[in-house]
Amino acid sequence: MKVLGISGSLRRDSYNSALLRNAPLELDLWEGLKTIPPYDEDDDVEPAPPAVARMRAAVAGADAILFATPEYNASVPGQLKNAVDWLSRPRATSVLRNKPVAVVGASTGAFGAVWAQAELRKVLATAGARVVDADVAVGHAHQRFDASGFLTDDDLREQFDELAQALVAAVDLRQPVAA
Ligand SMILES: Cc1cc2nc3c(=O)[nH]c(=O)nc-3n(C[C@H](O)[C@H](O)[C@H](O)COP(=O)(O)O)c2cc1C
Repeated sequence: MKVLGISGSLRRDSYNSALLRNAPLELDLWEGLKTIPPYDEDDDVEPAPPAVARMRAAVAGADAILFATPEYNASVPGQLKNAVDWLSRPRATSVLRNKPVAVVGASTGAFGAVWAQAELRKVLATAGARVVDADVAVGHAHQRFDASGFLTDDDLREQFDELAQALVAAVDLRQPVAA
């Protein structure tokens, strides 16, 4: 199973990127978010802008996507929302349609980006993705990782295990049953 990890933070020492590196399943961490241009419907033609085409191909080639989002002013960071807008088109055949996705998040505040996660789930569901109903909310993120980036909270690791299992189950549901 191929899982693509998409962090909504561009920051080098991002807690959300660190969170994805703690995922209890193998994933490829996508590094292209900063290369994605602002969504412009006039530019959303074939061939797509090269960075967008690469992102769409990465998503299309994955069995599932695991997003980690920071919370900016109680919502999804603009650059991540912008990327999802590109991924959501063309609507009928978008690479997100029926794609199993899960959302986790980290913030330095108390609530662990719960609002941003909820909004991202809403946006992904609107785009036609199959959104796993589970969350991992890492509050006080600056206190939850050791110097090597290891997530030290056992409860959060257990929640991450459960979310990963739900994501695998969502992928399995899509596989044709062997004859
Ligand atoms: C523009 C901006 C807005 C923010 N708004 C919130 C917020 O609404 N709630 C929250 O818990 N943290 C907020 N934060 C703090 C982020 O949670 C913190 O910077 C976090 O480390 C970002 O994730 P990252 O480490 O993956 O970059 C904000 C940070 C920035 C830069």
